[in-house]
Amino acid sequence: MHHAIAHQPINPFMKQFVVTGCSRGIGRATVEYLLAAGHQVHALSRNKDLQIPGATMHAVDLRSDDSIKAWARSMESSGSVIDALINNAGTLVISPLFQWSDLIFMTWLM
Ligand SMILES: NC(=O)c1ccc[n+]([C@@H]2O[C@H](COP(=O)([O-])OP(=O)(O)OC[C@H]3O[C@@H](n4cnc5c(N)ncnc54)[C@H](OP(=O)(O)O)[C@@H]3O)[C@@H](O)[C@H]2O)c1
Repeated sequence: MHHAIAHQPINPFMKQFVVTGCSRGIGRATVEYLLAAGHQVHALSRNKDLQIPGATMHAVDLRSDDSIKAWARSMESSGSVIDALINNAGTLVISPLFQWSDLIFMTWLM
């Protein structure tokens, strides 16, 4: 009896994406969309425990030069070739500019 082998179709247009800010919101949805479309995704978050099935996870704090450089070195040494960066990480502040505290300026603008 013949058994069909179930497998994922290979996407001939598969790309390697880097997506920042993947723990929730638009970043998380973008990762899931790209994975469903058959792409490879390097998902960045500050949360070391975060797992997104199918994605390669990287714990990186984008406000830290050392953290970014360490990640870049690890990507280079693993021979990863990146086709596209979706730099989504960030904070949306919904309040008038004159009400911003110094902390908001520091965290939002850095
Ligand atoms: N939602 C909107 O209506 C809207 C409108 C205009 C623009 N935007 C922009 O679109 C982007 C995503 O919005 P969202 O609503 O999906 O935001 P969100 O739900 O607050 O998620 C923001 C993401 O950014 C990450 N992040 C924040 N600071 C980071 C840092 N220093 N290093 C690494 N990751 C950091 C967070 O990940 P961790 O905390 O896990 O690291 C989180 O996954 C933001 O840049 C936002 O400003 C959103």
